[in-house]
Amino acid sequence: MKQVVALLVGSGRFELAYMQWRSSLEVGHDQIDREHRSLVEALNRLHAAMKMGKGKEEIGQILVFLKDYTESHFKTEEAMMLKHGYPAAPGHLAAHADLVQQVSALVTDYHAGKALLTGAVFDFLEGWLVKHIMSEDKALGDFMKSKA
Ligand SMILES: [Fe+2]
Ligand SMILES: [Fe+2]
Repeated sequence: MKQVVALLVGSGRFELAYMQWRSSLEVGHDQIDREHRSLVEALNRLHAAMKMGKGKEEIGQILVFLKDYTESHFKTEEAMMLKHGYPAAPGHLAAHADLVQQVSALVTDYHAGKALLTGAVFDFLEGWLVKHIMSEDKALGDFMKSKA
């Protein structure tokens, strides 16, 4: 069943979250799935803050949280790959490194006033997350299940 998440925005209004979590995104590993849900929540918080017209400082803080959480989540997956000798680790790590670089550049540019959080930025982040979860992370989830 599709879960509909509403976020409380300014003046008591409820608005649909930017990105809905869906069971098709589950990779079947508890910790990975939990962290993916937190990433989706962080993306939704960022989107809600932008829509509410929050200030640069508050939005900047959520953006940094999203970046830090992404990095710590990638470390979780990378530690699993190393521990279990995951054969597809090189490609997976390269995908992580690419996103970390792009998000870091976004944070730097945002703080320097050189980047705006536009719809295209959110579409990119959501698109990357969905594509990565559905391919590399699902493959890792299957591998971890085979090790359980
Ligand atoms: Fe991953
Ligand atoms: Fe992941």
